[in-house]
Amino acid sequence: MSQPSGVISLEQDTPELARAYEQAGIVQFHHGKFLIGPLALKAGEHVLDIGTGTGRLAEFVAGLVGPQGRVVGIDPLESRIEIARLRQSETLTFETGRAEDLSRFGDGEFDAVYLNSVLHWIAEKGRALREIHRVLKPGGRLGLNVQDPSRPHQSRQLLRAAIVQAGLGDAHRDSNPVLGVTDDKLKSLFTAAGFIDYRSDLRSLIDLHRDVDTVLRWSEASAFGNFLDGFSNAERDRVSTAFAELVEANRIPEGLRLERYLRFAFARKAPSSNS
Ligand SMILES: C[S@@+](CC[C@H](N)C(=O)[O-])C[C@H]1O[C@@H](n2cnc3c(N)ncnc32)[C@H](O)[C@@H]1O
Repeated sequence: MSQPSGVISLEQDTPELARAYEQAGIVQFHHGKFLIGPLALKAGEHVLDIGTGTGRLAEFVAGLVGPQGRVVGIDPLESRIEIARLRQSETLTFETGRAEDLSRFGDGEFDAVYLNSVLHWIAEKGRALREIHRVLKPGGRLGLNVQDPSRPHQSRQLLRAAIVQAGLGDAHRDSNPVLGVTDDKLKSLFTAAGFIDYRSDLRSLIDLHRDVDTVLRWSEASAFGNFLDGFSNAERDRVSTAFAELVEANRIPEGLRLERYLRFAFARKAPSSNS
Protein backbone atom coordinates (compact mmCIF):
# COMPACT_ATOMS: atom_id res chain seq x y z
CA MET A 1 0.00 0.00 0.00
CA SER A 2 1.32 3.44 -0.81
CA GLN A 3 2.11 5.85 2.05
CA PRO A 4 1.47 9.56 2.38
CA SER A 5 4.59 11.22 1.00
CA GLY A 6 7.51 11.49 3.37
CA VAL A 7 6.35 8.62 5.62
CA ILE A 8 8.62 5.59 5.75
CA SER A 9 6.79 2.28 5.77
CA LEU A 10 8.10 -0.96 7.25
CA GLU A 11 5.16 -2.87 5.76
CA GLN A 12 6.24 -2.99 2.14
CA ASP A 13 9.31 -5.20 2.33
CA THR A 14 9.11 -8.56 0.56
CA PRO A 15 11.19 -11.77 0.66
CA GLU A 16 12.41 -10.84 -2.88
CA LEU A 17 13.67 -7.43 -1.71
CA ALA A 18 15.34 -9.10 1.28
CA ARG A 19 17.11 -11.58 -1.01
CA ALA A 20 18.14 -8.76 -3.36
CA TYR A 21 19.54 -6.87 -0.37
CA GLU A 22 21.54 -9.90 0.74
CA GLN A 23 23.07 -10.10 -2.77
CA ALA A 24 23.77 -6.39 -3.20
CA GLY A 25 24.43 -5.47 0.46
CA ILE A 26 28.18 -6.03 0.18
CA VAL A 27 28.39 -2.29 -0.59
CA GLN A 28 26.91 -1.53 2.82
CA PHE A 29 29.21 -4.08 4.44
CA HIS A 30 32.31 -2.28 3.15
CA HIS A 31 31.37 1.09 4.59
CA GLY A 32 30.13 -0.63 7.77
CA LYS A 33 33.71 -1.68 8.45
CA PHE A 34 34.68 2.02 8.68
CA LEU A 35 32.18 2.20 11.52
CA ILE A 36 33.48 -0.83 13.38
CA GLY A 37 37.18 0.16 13.43
CA PRO A 38 36.80 3.25 15.66
CA LEU A 39 34.60 1.29 18.10
CA ALA A 40 37.80 -0.62 18.98
CA LEU A 41 35.94 -3.81 19.89
CA LYS A 42 37.75 -6.25 22.13
CA ALA A 43 37.47 -10.00 22.56
CA GLY A 44 34.66 -10.92 24.93
CA GLU A 45 32.62 -7.74 24.46
CA HIS A 46 28.83 -7.64 24.06
CA VAL A 47 27.62 -5.73 21.01
CA LEU A 48 24.20 -4.72 19.66
CA ASP A 49 23.70 -4.20 15.90
CA ILE A 50 20.51 -2.16 15.40
CA GLY A 51 18.90 -2.40 11.96
CA THR A 52 21.12 -5.38 11.18
CA GLY A 53 19.39 -6.16 7.85
CA THR A 54 20.55 -9.59 6.69
CA GLY A 55 23.32 -9.69 9.31
CA ARG A 56 26.51 -9.63 7.24
CA LEU A 57 28.22 -6.97 9.35
CA ALA A 58 27.06 -8.59 12.60
CA GLU A 59 28.70 -11.85 11.49
CA PHE A 60 31.96 -9.97 10.91
CA VAL A 61 31.68 -8.34 14.36
CA ALA A 62 31.02 -11.73 16.01
CA GLY A 63 34.42 -12.79 14.62
CA LEU A 64 36.03 -9.77 16.28
CA VAL A 65 34.59 -10.34 19.77
CA GLY A 66 35.29 -14.07 19.56
CA PRO A 67 33.91 -17.07 21.45
CA GLN A 68 33.62 -15.20 24.79
CA GLY A 69 31.79 -12.30 23.16
CA ARG A 70 28.18 -11.88 22.14
CA VAL A 71 26.51 -10.07 19.23
CA VAL A 72 22.77 -9.47 18.91
CA GLY A 73 21.28 -8.11 15.68
CA ILE A 74 17.78 -6.66 15.59
CA ASP A 75 15.73 -5.44 12.64
CA PRO A 76 11.98 -4.80 12.22
CA LEU A 77 11.84 -6.65 8.88
CA GLU A 78 11.05 -10.33 9.36
CA SER A 79 12.27 -11.37 5.88
CA ARG A 80 15.70 -9.85 6.54
CA ILE A 81 15.96 -11.46 9.98
CA GLU A 82 15.11 -14.84 8.39
CA ILE A 83 18.17 -14.51 6.14
CA ALA A 84 20.30 -13.18 9.02
CA ARG A 85 19.42 -16.27 11.08
CA LEU A 86 21.26 -18.41 8.53
CA ARG A 87 24.39 -16.77 10.05
CA GLN A 88 23.36 -17.47 13.64
CA SER A 89 25.80 -19.16 16.02
CA GLU A 90 26.26 -19.62 19.76
CA THR A 91 27.52 -16.06 20.09
CA LEU A 92 25.48 -14.41 17.32
CA THR A 93 21.69 -14.13 17.49
CA PHE A 94 19.05 -12.21 15.58
CA GLU A 95 15.62 -10.96 16.61
CA THR A 96 12.95 -8.78 15.06
CA GLY A 97 12.75 -5.44 16.82
CA ARG A 98 13.01 -1.69 16.48
CA ALA A 99 15.52 0.80 17.82
CA GLU A 100 12.82 2.78 19.60
CA ASP A 101 11.95 -0.14 21.90
CA LEU A 102 14.87 -2.06 23.39
CA SER A 103 12.83 -3.17 26.43
CA ARG A 104 13.90 -6.79 25.89
CA PHE A 105 17.40 -5.70 26.99
CA GLY A 106 18.36 -4.70 30.51
CA ASP A 107 20.17 -1.52 31.51
CA GLY A 108 23.90 -1.59 30.79
CA GLU A 109 23.94 -4.88 28.81
CA PHE A 110 26.23 -3.83 25.96
CA ASP A 111 29.78 -2.57 25.58
CA ALA A 112 29.03 -1.14 22.15
CA VAL A 113 26.05 -0.42 19.90
CA TYR A 114 26.20 0.47 16.20
CA LEU A 115 23.77 1.34 13.41
CA ASN A 116 25.04 1.01 9.85
CA SER A 117 22.94 3.13 7.46
CA VAL A 118 19.90 2.90 9.70
CA LEU A 119 19.28 6.13 11.67
CA HIS A 120 17.89 8.04 8.67
CA TRP A 121 15.07 5.47 8.47
CA ILE A 122 14.11 5.77 12.15
CA ALA A 123 11.14 8.03 12.81
CA GLU A 124 11.70 8.59 16.54
CA LYS A 125 15.44 9.24 16.61
CA GLY A 126 15.52 10.82 20.08
CA ARG A 127 13.66 7.90 21.61
CA ALA A 128 15.97 5.41 19.88
CA LEU A 129 19.10 7.19 21.15
CA ARG A 130 17.75 7.29 24.72
CA GLU A 131 17.11 3.54 24.56
CA ILE A 132 20.61 2.94 23.21
CA HIS A 133 22.07 5.03 26.04
CA ARG A 134 20.13 2.94 28.56
CA VAL A 135 21.32 -0.45 27.28
CA LEU A 136 24.98 0.63 27.11
CA LYS A 137 27.30 -0.03 30.03
CA PRO A 138 28.87 3.05 31.65
CA GLY A 139 31.65 4.06 29.26
CA GLY A 140 29.97 2.07 26.44
CA ARG A 141 30.50 3.22 22.82
CA LEU A 142 28.02 4.16 20.11
CA GLY A 143 28.88 4.40 16.42
CA LEU A 144 26.57 5.11 13.52
CA ASN A 145 26.50 6.48 10.02
CA VAL A 146 23.64 8.45 8.59
CA GLN A 147 22.68 10.39 5.50
CA ASP A 148 23.11 14.15 5.67
CA PRO A 149 20.21 16.04 4.04
CA SER A 150 22.60 18.75 2.84
CA ARG A 151 24.54 16.13 0.83
CA PRO A 152 22.11 13.67 -0.84
CA HIS A 153 23.66 10.61 -2.50
CA GLN A 154 24.46 11.09 -6.19
CA SER A 155 21.90 8.40 -7.11
CA ARG A 156 19.22 10.35 -5.24
CA GLN A 157 20.14 13.58 -7.00
CA LEU A 158 19.94 11.76 -10.36
CA LEU A 159 16.64 10.18 -9.41
CA ARG A 160 15.17 13.59 -8.59
CA ALA A 161 16.42 14.87 -11.95
CA ALA A 162 14.90 11.81 -13.68
CA ILE A 163 11.52 12.44 -12.03
CA VAL A 164 11.57 16.01 -13.34
CA GLN A 165 12.82 14.90 -16.77
CA ALA A 166 9.96 12.36 -16.94
CA GLY A 167 7.53 15.25 -16.46
CA LEU A 168 6.49 14.07 -12.99
CA GLY A 169 8.18 16.74 -10.89
CA ASP A 170 4.93 18.50 -10.05
CA ALA A 171 2.83 15.40 -9.45
CA HIS A 172 5.47 13.94 -7.13
CA ARG A 173 7.00 17.05 -5.63
CA ASP A 174 7.19 15.54 -2.11
CA SER A 175 7.93 11.95 -3.12
CA ASN A 176 11.35 10.44 -2.65
CA PRO A 177 12.22 12.75 0.27
CA VAL A 178 15.86 13.31 1.13
CA LEU A 179 16.35 11.57 4.45
CA GLY A 180 18.94 12.23 7.07
CA VAL A 181 20.11 14.41 9.92
CA THR A 182 22.40 17.43 9.90
CA ASP A 183 25.49 17.46 12.09
CA ASP A 184 23.99 20.08 14.45
CA LYS A 185 20.79 18.09 14.86
CA LEU A 186 22.68 14.85 15.38
CA LYS A 187 24.90 16.43 18.01
CA SER A 188 21.91 17.81 19.90
CA LEU A 189 20.11 14.43 19.71
CA PHE A 190 23.19 12.65 21.09
CA THR A 191 23.61 15.22 23.87
CA ALA A 192 19.93 15.15 24.82
CA ALA A 193 20.12 11.34 25.10
CA GLY A 194 23.03 11.70 27.57
CA PHE A 195 26.02 10.87 25.35
CA ILE A 196 29.42 12.55 25.74
CA ASP A 197 32.47 12.97 23.48
CA TYR A 198 30.46 13.38 20.25
CA ARG A 199 32.56 13.50 17.11
CA SER A 200 31.57 13.16 13.48
CA ASP A 201 32.81 13.51 9.94
CA LEU A 202 31.10 13.46 6.55
CA ARG A 203 32.65 10.94 4.17
CA SER A 204 32.33 10.37 0.48
CA LEU A 205 32.09 6.71 -0.52
CA ILE A 206 32.39 5.40 -4.06
CA ASP A 207 30.07 2.62 -5.22
CA LEU A 208 30.70 0.77 -8.45
CA HIS A 209 27.66 -0.85 -10.09
CA ARG A 210 27.62 -3.12 -13.12
CA ASP A 211 24.69 -1.42 -14.86
CA VAL A 212 21.61 0.66 -14.21
CA ASP A 213 19.57 -2.43 -13.28
CA THR A 214 21.92 -3.15 -10.42
CA VAL A 215 21.62 0.48 -9.28
CA LEU A 216 17.83 0.23 -9.35
CA ARG A 217 17.77 -3.17 -7.59
CA TRP A 218 20.12 -1.86 -4.92
CA SER A 219 18.02 1.28 -4.43
CA GLU A 220 14.81 -0.75 -4.14
CA ALA A 221 16.26 -3.35 -1.77
CA SER A 222 17.95 -0.85 0.55
CA ALA A 223 14.74 1.23 0.78
CA PHE A 224 12.70 -1.93 1.64
CA GLY A 225 9.71 -0.97 -0.52
CA ASN A 226 9.88 2.82 -0.09
CA PHE A 227 11.63 3.45 -3.40
CA LEU A 228 9.44 5.45 -5.84
CA ASP A 229 6.55 4.71 -3.53
CA GLY A 230 3.33 6.32 -4.76
CA PHE A 231 4.35 6.10 -8.43
CA SER A 232 2.22 4.00 -10.80
CA ASN A 233 3.97 1.25 -12.79
CA ALA A 234 3.83 3.40 -15.94
CA GLU A 235 5.35 6.34 -14.06
CA ARG A 236 8.08 4.10 -12.63
CA ASP A 237 8.96 2.97 -16.16
CA ARG A 238 9.26 6.59 -17.33
CA VAL A 239 11.44 7.54 -14.38
CA SER A 240 13.61 4.42 -14.78
CA THR A 241 14.23 5.22 -18.48
CA ALA A 242 15.25 8.81 -17.68
CA PHE A 243 17.32 7.61 -14.70
CA ALA A 244 19.17 5.05 -16.87
CA GLU A 245 20.29 7.79 -19.27
CA LEU A 246 21.46 10.07 -16.47
CA VAL A 247 23.31 7.29 -14.64
CA GLU A 248 25.11 6.14 -17.81
CA ALA A 249 26.93 9.48 -17.89
CA ASN A 250 28.86 8.22 -14.84
CA ARG A 251 30.30 5.15 -16.55
CA ILE A 252 34.04 4.52 -16.16
CA PRO A 253 35.86 1.40 -17.43
CA GLU A 254 35.21 -0.42 -14.10
CA GLY A 255 31.44 0.23 -14.14
CA LEU A 256 28.97 2.90 -13.07
CA ARG A 257 30.61 5.14 -10.50
CA LEU A 258 28.26 6.75 -7.99
CA GLU A 259 29.19 8.71 -4.90
CA ARG A 260 27.39 8.37 -1.60
CA TYR A 261 27.84 10.63 1.39
CA LEU A 262 27.49 9.43 4.94
CA ARG A 263 28.16 11.16 8.23
CA PHE A 264 29.98 8.88 10.65
CA ALA A 265 29.30 9.77 14.29
CA PHE A 266 30.71 8.36 17.52
CA ALA A 267 30.09 9.02 21.20
CA ARG A 268 30.06 7.23 24.52
CA LYS A 269 28.09 6.95 27.70
CA ALA A 270 29.75 8.68 30.64
CA PRO A 271 31.74 6.18 32.73
CA SER A 272 30.06 7.27 35.94
CA SER A 273 26.49 7.42 34.57
CA ASN A 274 23.96 5.44 36.58
CA SER A 275 21.17 5.55 34.01
C1 LIG B 1 19.97 0.18 4.49
S1 LIG B 1 19.53 -1.10 5.57
C2 LIG B 1 21.04 -1.41 6.47
C3 LIG B 1 21.11 -2.85 6.96
C4 LIG B 1 22.39 -3.23 7.72
N1 LIG B 1 22.68 -2.35 8.82
C5 LIG B 1 23.59 -3.36 6.82
O1 LIG B 1 24.65 -2.86 7.19
O2 LIG B 1 23.51 -3.99 5.76
C6 LIG B 1 18.54 -0.23 6.75
C7 LIG B 1 17.91 -1.14 7.80
O3 LIG B 1 17.30 -0.33 8.82
C8 LIG B 1 16.21 -1.04 9.33
N2 LIG B 1 15.30 -0.17 10.08
C9 LIG B 1 14.37 0.67 9.59
N3 LIG B 1 13.70 1.26 10.60
C10 LIG B 1 14.23 0.78 11.75
C11 LIG B 1 13.95 0.98 13.15
N4 LIG B 1 12.98 1.81 13.55
N5 LIG B 1 14.69 0.30 14.05
C12 LIG B 1 15.67 -0.54 13.66
N6 LIG B 1 15.98 -0.78 12.35
C13 LIG B 1 15.26 -0.13 11.42
C14 LIG B 1 15.59 -1.60 8.05
O4 LIG B 1 14.71 -2.64 8.35
C15 LIG B 1 16.81 -2.03 7.24
O5 LIG B 1 17.14 -3.38 7.42
